Amino acid sequence: MTVHFIGAGPGAADLITLRGRDLIATSQVCLYAGSLVPQALLSHCPKDARIVNTAPLSLDEIMDEINAAHHAGHDVARLHSGDLSIWSAMGEQLRRLRALDIPYDVTPGVPSFAAAAAALGTELTLPGIAQSVILTRTSGRATAMPSGENLAAFAATGAVLALHLSIHLLDEVLVTLTPYYGPDCPVAVVWRASWPDQRIIRATLETLDLGLMGELERTALILVGRSLAQEDFDESRLYAGDYDRRYRPVGTDPRFPKDIV
Ligand SMILES: C[S@@+](CC[C@H](N)C(=O)[O-])C[C@H]1O[C@@H](n2cnc3c(N)ncnc32)[C@H](O)[C@@H]1O
Repeated sequence: MTVHFIGAGPGAADLITLRGRDLIATSQVCLYAGSLVPQALLSHCPKDARIVNTAPLSLDEIMDEINAAHHAGHDVARLHSGDLSIWSAMGEQLRRLRALDIPYDVTPGVPSFAAAAAALGTELTLPGIAQSVILTRTSGRATAMPSGENLAAFAATGAVLALHLSIHLLDEVLVTLTPYYGPDCPVAVVWRASWPDQRIIRATLETLDLGLMGELERTALILVGRSLAQEDFDESRLYAGDYDRRYRPVGTDPRFPKDIV
């Protein structure tokens, strides 16, 4: 018996790995975080699977489900939205499983920031413009930010910001970021990236219309950075015709001769 933690992706039912889909199909129990995991993924469950939406459950109640499956010898597919490495509440479940000696494994998923960048058709890291992306959030009712992890400190780096769980504080976010990035810095808000009702607003820190925000629900990412609207950037050296590299030796004295490639 194994608890399979599976990144269910950002919303589109086909943005899950083949491994994740196959584990759902072979697990007799499926526990899914119903607020963001698409219902369509449940169609991969075996016909007689026990399928439980964990959105209304406490951690103790989720563990009761896992314990029951453990005693019955049933595998569990545990679905969380996006990828499990960020804001999934997987850590506390793994700690309990380790204490109980219940086996588990983890299958990654497509994170929402990647789905949002795809929806924008944007590479976030452009040569000479931005080479870092900070995945962060603002303080929430359930989770405070550790000291030192604050928006101003991240903004001071000039990196691209992917702000999760923060759309309700958009006005504060804009005020904090503008002195660092400048009022003309591009911003994009992507709601429900990859869902059928996905919405995108592109603007600058100065022109973003806060009035629109109230109309839309909270599953949204705020992306801020110069690479969001930039045509004037260097091409990467990697594919430059004269760039001598391991997989494409160039010149009379290549750094990586073909016989050692
Ligand atoms: C609890 S976190 C889950 C993050 C998830 N583990 C991931 O890998 O993206 C929920 C937040 O992620 C962002 N989010 C999740 N799915 C999204 C989507 N499809 N479109 C835009 N933002 C999304 C929103 O900021 C939302 O408030």
